[in-house]
Amino acid sequence: MADYARNKKFLSASTLLMLAIAAYMSFSLVWHEPVPEARRVPLSLALVLFSLCITTLRVLVTRRPDLPFGFVRAGGFVSSAFLSLFWLTLLRDTALGAAFLLRTLLPGLGSAKEAFFHALLSVPFESGMLAAGFGMAAAGMALALRAPQVRETRIPIPSLPAGLDGLRIVQLSDFHIGASFGGRWLAEVVRRSNAQEPDLVLITGDLADGSPERIEQHLRPLAGLQAKHGVLAVPGNHDYYSGLVPWLEKWRGWGLDVLLNAHRDIPVHGHRVRIAGVNDRCARHFPEYRSSPDMGPPDLRRALAMGEGLRPDFTILLSHRPGDAAENAAFGADLQLSGHTHGGQFFFLFPLVSHINRGFRSGLYRVSGMALHVSPGTGMWGYAPMRWGCRSEISLLILTRN
Ligand SMILES: [Fe+2]
Repeated sequence: MADYARNKKFLSASTLLMLAIAAYMSFSLVWHEPVPEARRVPLSLALVLFSLCITTLRVLVTRRPDLPFGFVRAGGFVSSAFLSLFWLTLLRDTALGAAFLLRTLLPGLGSAKEAFFHALLSVPFESGMLAAGFGMAAAGMALALRAPQVRETRIPIPSLPAGLDGLRIVQLSDFHIGASFGGRWLAEVVRRSNAQEPDLVLITGDLADGSPERIEQHLRPLAGLQAKHGVLAVPGNHDYYSGLVPWLEKWRGWGLDVLLNAHRDIPVHGHRVRIAGVNDRCARHFPEYRSSPDMGPPDLRRALAMGEGLRPDFTILLSHRPGDAAENAAFGADLQLSGHTHGGQFFFLFPLVSHINRGFRSGLYRVSGMALHVSPGTGMWGYAPMRWGCRSEISLLILTRN
């Protein structure tokens, strides 16, 4: 049963963070002259309410199977505007801080600095910031909600067996169907993926945001994915929150080979290609999965099983999160595919997202001789559904020997 309350730690931390941001914005935007005193409390309360939008949506999506998509998108617009306004507030306050420093260093600029402060703290300027926040959210959502383009990335791997030169892999990741994206969007993604005539389609988690009861028909287009040698997937953290057991039954029924700390050896042009998949580490938050080899936390040794049976000629590891790439490389994988980061979604979050994911945000990396491709997301996190500076994509990966 889908239940975000199981993810209490993250939900509490993210809610507290958003409340802290609301407190900062309230202090910075509302509690100063010339904002009329009578408006300060209602404006601060409005900021607090907006800050709670993401948490509210996350809980409602799992508790209300009949929740309309339009409601989630409207809430997502409010969250996007709130985050955009936060960034504009940081920018404005940095300018004020710089002006303050300049006045200290160059006392002769006193009157110019006063005029600058007066302008940036005025009601018209702050109203303009609010309008710009809504404008950024609207434009960012329009960019983010389009069907993603195919982006080709060539991955040179010197040790690649000759028969695998030119192997075409479509990597899909982070659909998050059920928050902002629905079945029509996914059907177009499937059409564009099939048009690439891939050898393999590999899906790196976060397929669903919601239970099958609510959104099964929106994920059903996945049944139409085509590849010469198979469509394989691993779950992401949101799939666990959405109720992994009932989803597994659906996905497998639709022809997806879901790897749970497991692998498949697939013959491709005379070579043995091992596709291994590890679970997401959020499994440890679910008491019923904690000690399960299939459903439990990542078990790389079990997934890759490198010492058992015939050695593969080439090994691809699917891991929703990219952060453990260095450890995974030591186990002998040749290529790791990951998602989870959504490429940071907004440029002002890029440093934070990179930091949280050990420097891996989007694109191709080399980690101790292993190639790592991090998808910026075919979809994205739908509770603040905007993108700035990072497009969603259907990743067409072409493996080459040089
Ligand atoms: Fe995701």
